[in-house]
Amino acid sequence: MMPAVAKKPDEEATPDRRLVDLAVSKQWITAEQGQQALEICSKAAELGLGSSLEEVLVRKGWLTHERWTELIASGAEKGGGEGAGILIGKYRVVQKVGEGGMGAIFKVKKQGSDRVVALKLLSREVSKLKDWRTRFQREAKVAIHLDHPNIVRGIEVGQEKDRFYYVMEFIEGTNLSDLIHDQGAVPEPRALEWMIQLAEGIDYIDSKKLVHRDIKPDNIIVTPPGVAKLTDLGLAKSIAANSPQITATGTAVGTPGYMSPEQIRGDKGVDIRTDLYSLGATFYFALTGRKPFEGDSFQEVLVKHLNDQLPSPKAHMARLSDEICRIVEKLMAKERKDRYRDAGDLLKDLRSLQRGQPLLTREIPEGRSMVSRDPTMPTIDLKAVRARAAAQRRRARFSWGRFLFKTAFLLLLLAAAGAAVAWWVFEWRPA
Ligand SMILES: Nc1ncnc2c1ncn2[C@@H]1O[C@H](COP(=O)(O)OP(=O)(O)OP(=O)(O)O)[C@@H](O)[C@H]1O
Ligand SMILES: [Mg+2]
Repeated sequence: MMPAVAKKPDEEATPDRRLVDLAVSKQWITAEQGQQALEICSKAAELGLGSSLEEVLVRKGWLTHERWTELIASGAEKGGGEGAGILIGKYRVVQKVGEGGMGAIFKVKKQGSDRVVALKLLSREVSKLKDWRTRFQREAKVAIHLDHPNIVRGIEVGQEKDRFYYVMEFIEGTNLSDLIHDQGAVPEPRALEWMIQLAEGIDYIDSKKLVHRDIKPDNIIVTPPGVAKLTDLGLAKSIAANSPQITATGTAVGTPGYMSPEQIRGDKGVDIRTDLYSLGATFYFALTGRKPFEGDSFQEVLVKHLNDQLPSPKAHMARLSDEICRIVEKLMAKERKDRYRDAGDLLKDLRSLQRGQPLLTREIPEGRSMVSRDPTMPTIDLKAVRARAAAQRRRARFSWGRFLFKTAFLLLLLAAAGAAVAWWVFEWRPA
């Protein structure tokens, strides 16, 4: 590794210095070039000219603009110590908050302001997808004008060279996924309260002619007073099962466990009932502490999604009410016509249940949901499913070349063994 640029004892580690050190450690520039660039910047500042480090490095031909963006991103993604202070557009990083399949989230402050906001810096791969980019620019801009207590408010859409970013209000709280991992299944009355709040949020999104498309526990933040907020509106990537994105980027699409069957198939024209399905899958997890359709790989989850049925929530949590199981079953209907028509209809049932009154909507015919009604149905045997997937992978790897080579090798080995026996028993020698 190259040595970092020598620092004077009283010199503060400014963001520029941290970037130079990072570039040197990546061997993109030499320590001498870094030092020279920093000196040019500080001389320019003394003269009131204010040359940026990027300008100097690019002008000198030591770094390209693309490399500079990469440097900013990887510096910021280091978070805390190293990332803090780095500029992304007009926003200065305070610290990294988390990372998902599409990019990383930072706590940032706009230059000249003390307000803390969240900035999601989307990965280069995601920013490059043309269809996604068009929809992001359209929907994220709409999302900025939304105002609802259960939707995280968008503030601004920006671009830093070849990467998009999305600025939103910063929510102090825990995402539902971490919360369930730490505390286990959510008690029914609390889960019901959050479902009502989120259904109100979905109803509002629907009234603005939007579909979230990526409702899942990681995209729900619960604040300390207990308000559930839906984040990432306008950011969901369209994910079709046959899309090359899945195989190309793998983790970039996250888990398909919460995606509706029509999304997995890549159907055109998904509507708000897709969000209702994902809300059902999210609360299957929240109420039982079991993720729907878990697997080691994206493909394994897809196979299960298409072939298996989940046990009733009661199979995991016997004390759940029949009504909440019925609501989850209806939300997770395979065909969208069997689900609630919209969030308004769902809200009627949720509020009835909260008041202890009978549900208002009709039960769906048995067997038409991803969730079984039978509380005695055993949990899916994960081991058997994994063994099946492994066997499928092995079969897929079969190659004629390898087979012929192995057979020829075996025959050669047998011939050699035969010759050795003949030589030993009959004292046979080759002519
Ligand atoms: N507006 C926000 N305010 C505060 N924290 C947030 C905000 N948005 C997201 N987070 C936190 O950052 C974490 C990472 O979010 P991110 O959206 O990058 O990942 P993800 O939801 O797991 O995956 P995906 O990229 O598929 O949405 C979240 O789980 C959440 O805890
Ligand atoms: Mg997210």
